[in-house]
Amino acid sequence: MARPFYVTTPIYYVNDVPHIGHAYTTLTADALARWHRLLGEEVIFLTGTDEHGLKVQRAAEENNVAPQDWADRTAQRYIDTWELLDISYDDFIRTTEDRHRVSVQAFLEACKANGDIELRTYEGLYSVADEAYVTEEEVAELERLGRPVITMREENYFFLLSKYEQQLLDWYEANPHAVSPPSKRNEALGFIRQGLQDFSISRTSIDWGVPIPWDDRHVTYVWFDALINYVTAAGYGTDDESFERLWPGRHMLGKDILRFHCVFWPAMLMSAGMDPPTNLNVHGYLLVGGEKMSKTRLNHIAPAELVDEFGVDGFRYHFLRDQPFGPDGEFSYEGMVARYNADLANNFGNLLSRVATVVGKKCDGVGPRPRQDSPLAPVAEAAVQRAIEAWDKVAPSEALDAAWSIIRETNSLLEATEPWKAEPGPEVDGVLGDAIEALRIVAVLAHPAIPAATAESWRRIGLSGDIADCRVPTDVRWGLYPGGLSVEKGTPLFPRLKL
Ligand code: MSP
Repeated sequence: MARPFYVTTPIYYVNDVPHIGHAYTTLTADALARWHRLLGEEVIFLTGTDEHGLKVQRAAEENNVAPQDWADRTAQRYIDTWELLDISYDDFIRTTEDRHRVSVQAFLEACKANGDIELRTYEGLYSVADEAYVTEEEVAELERLGRPVITMREENYFFLLSKYEQQLLDWYEANPHAVSPPSKRNEALGFIRQGLQDFSISRTSIDWGVPIPWDDRHVTYVWFDALINYVTAAGYGTDDESFERLWPGRHMLGKDILRFHCVFWPAMLMSAGMDPPTNLNVHGYLLVGGEKMSKTRLNHIAPAELVDEFGVDGFRYHFLRDQPFGPDGEFSYEGMVARYNADLANNFGNLLSRVATVVGKKCDGVGPRPRQDSPLAPVAEAAVQRAIEAWDKVAPSEALDAAWSIIRETNSLLEATEPWKAEPGPEVDGVLGDAIEALRIVAVLAHPAIPAATAESWRRIGLSGDIADCRVPTDVRWGLYPGGLSVEKGTPLFPRLKL
């Protein structure tokens, strides 16, 4: 049986409320999940919230509520945001759930049984905002960013990461595509080659966390706890059968947490006797005014603000098409309006309404069949191929560009043949049938990015059934529009926006 496609986002801290940076990762994972559903795979798409640690404990104290109440409140903000953005997750994990405590404790026991956990006294500089010990060299920069550094002296359990240096290098060599893009893989490899330090995985200074199972004076370090969410949700410690089926999975993440995911996490899994993830897809920052969004800089943009103006699909399209996955990207409102108007209002939306109008006038509102020898047939075939390859390398922007190449060629065909001026007849029917067929294929290809608009365009060209039930490549072969269906004009799918 084919392995399920198990894909995850980072779990987001509940000391903060969702902004477009968080939405970016979740949206990309959602589109990828939807694409794999179109491929006919069984998809399990996981997201969730990271609820333990000093950061969350402090946020709760500042707001005079118990940490669990605080976590409940903020987790709900994430759930609401994902609902707003049409995120099709299958499971939402919260690290304060029982299933997760069970899994973290089983994981710790497994690492300990393997001789990889040791008690030591540790004194060091600690950044609360980053929930991490830092070096002296890093202090000035952190303080400049408003991220205070404190001295922490603790008796801690340590995870013996240094033991895993060679195994990690071997794993990287044997799996050249596991971490992508290559620049991020090199960054992780560079870090490993510098030599790995054992790291502290428990705290006695706080109590908001999962107790170390053999020593309840300590709670588990928030990062050790958080990473384990990916196996918890697969069933580790609670459902062996599910775990066997789902693990190893694949992760999407921002470059800020590359070290934790691409170095610590595979080593932790090796220690506990599990396979590392199959893929780690790392993307850059979404910058606002040249800087990463942060609470202290007040440059947060909430997804709802943009959805009000651009609609859910307008929002989704922008981040998938205009912010390529991998490099940093600058968010620009003007750029967002320009892309919306060009691709959604003028190209996609306008093509649909133009075709529906002409079909109304020249074909009594009944969509004709496409031609098998249409000039658009090879265009569509090439676009499908490009889209498949693009999604395969997690490049939604390229996949959408491929879909839009069909729209551009269809518009050119219409301009060249001007069916609105011609007499009704086979010529006109042929061109309009081709245009509808192009719209049908585009709807399927663009569905992962703009699910509501494509479902609506599917309906307007007279097709029944759920577009999400289509399969790639079977249903995107040229010539499947049956003809004889009534085509509806309707209001503009994407009304033009003014700056
Ligand atoms: N809780 C940890 C992750 C634990 S995963 C086991 C954490 N949470 S976070 O709330 O800070 O979210 C970090 C993730 O949010 C980033 O890795 C990235 O996926 C996303 N982003 C947050 N800000 C972002 C940008 N400005 N740009 C792009 N992505 C951003 O770290």
